[in-house]
Amino acid sequence: MREVVVSSARLDLVVPVMSDCEALLGLWNDPETMQYIGDGSVWDREKITERIERGIGMHRDRGMTFWTLIERDSGGVVGQGGLVPIEFNGPEIELGYRLGKAHWGKGYASEVARASVAYGFDTLALDELVAVTDPANLASRRVLIKTGFVEEGESEIYYGVRTIVHRMNASQRIP
Ligand SMILES: CC(C)(COP(=O)(O)OP(=O)(O)OC[C@H]1O[C@@H](n2cnc3c(N)ncnc32)[C@H](O)[C@@H]1OP(=O)(O)O)[C@@H](O)C(=O)NCCC(=O)NCCS
Repeated sequence: MREVVVSSARLDLVVPVMSDCEALLGLWNDPETMQYIGDGSVWDREKITERIERGIGMHRDRGMTFWTLIERDSGGVVGQGGLVPIEFNGPEIELGYRLGKAHWGKGYASEVARASVAYGFDTLALDELVAVTDPANLASRRVLIKTGFVEEGESEIYYGVRTIVHRMNASQRIP
């Protein structure tokens, strides 16, 4: 049984385990999916293993990470998403999500965003969240606006690349 941290209507956000690697490899080896993530390169087994290890440690130490997204109907891994200290360093806490291409356009990212935001404010008692997107990632920008984030504009303060910075505090939550 997986350790469920938070659930949305159709997804469980679960603590990552090393055996997620195989499924994630099938999702993150696609250039279109990865075009707005980091330097845009696809992830191989070594990179995914390293990220799962770091994710497990982050959840253990901070109670947050990019959790593995399980589609309850199929039991399959459809992506990763959740909360992390930005740049894995903080102090701000970042919302992030990514889905395999077969799962785009179903409203899953919006579910993950809402569930993670609720977890961050209600369970982790955070004051504010940040999210960054490539300016060209219009679908992700839409997800953030729908979730209640406010666009602050373009900046290079995070990750050393130009992104649209979004912020949200608890009072901006959409009921
Ligand atoms: C971006 C991503 C997370 C969106 O996931 P999703 O589950 O398809 O998103 P949702 O279905 O919840 O919502 C997408 C919204 O964007 C809209 N949208 C989709 N493509 C769009 C486009 N090209 N321009 C404008 N809006 C767009 C959709 O209509 C929807 O809005 P609506 O509900 O008001 O109709 C998904 O495509 C993905 O994982 N991409 C690869 C990784 C990535 O870029 N992650 C985000 C990094 S910041």
